[in-house]
Amino acid sequence: MKDTTSILNINRKDEYYNKIAFISLLSYAQEPSYVSDLFGGVGGFMAETKLKFPGVPAEIFEMDPLCLEVLKAKDIPDCSIIPGNCLELFHAKPDSGVIADFNLMTLKRAQVEFHDFLYSMFRSRIKWLILTDSAGAKLHINYPIYGCSSPKLFDYITRWNAWLRPFGYHIQKWQRPHFRSVLFLITSKEDDNVSSW
Ligand SMILES: C[S@@+](CC[C@H](N)C(=O)[O-])C[C@H]1O[C@@H](n2cnc3c(N)ncnc32)[C@H](O)[C@@H]1O
Repeated sequence: MKDTTSILNINRKDEYYNKIAFISLLSYAQEPSYVSDLFGGVGGFMAETKLKFPGVPAEIFEMDPLCLEVLKAKDIPDCSIIPGNCLELFHAKPDSGVIADFNLMTLKRAQVEFHDFLYSMFRSRIKWLILTDSAGAKLHINYPIYGCSSPKLFDYITRWNAWLRPFGYHIQKWQRPHFRSVLFLITSKEDDNVSSW
């Protein structure tokens, strides 16, 4: 898989389990003033978000032409479809909720390649961010790269929190739907409990 691989070419079972994890995290998210889904795919996460926050205006980014056709056909209410690269087009809004279902994201990438992109969200004081991380698949090999002393997921999440805290954010909840993905609910609430079901 690459950064730009379309959701239409991703394992259906992984997509299904990720969506269940997303719904669980969303149940803890407070109502935002606006929702931005950066890697919209075919709108599975956005459709769930609209069920929970029906009155909240939204935007969904996607660059794959076939996914864009599906999104147009779905016609999600009060949701603008923005064709193109979210890394260039997205501007975070204060008090908003942001969904970032990255194909490939790790703490190292957050700290280096995506530092400015993520920092601009935190500087804009977004209400929450639901982010998909894929380091889990190779954590048993790569854990020293992230400064972890063991391959345990909890250790990795602790490293993520150490990086997020100076921005005033932290992982409030997390879900591991399968070995390739962990989803985080990142909020600014100062609550050190890292938990899951
Ligand atoms: C993991 S899928 C998202 C699935 C989505 N959560 C759903 O419910 O359908 C990631 C999607 O992001 C798109 N994508 C990748 N890089 C992008 C970028 N820079 N800007 C916009 N879309 C991008 C891909 O085409 C892919 O469909």
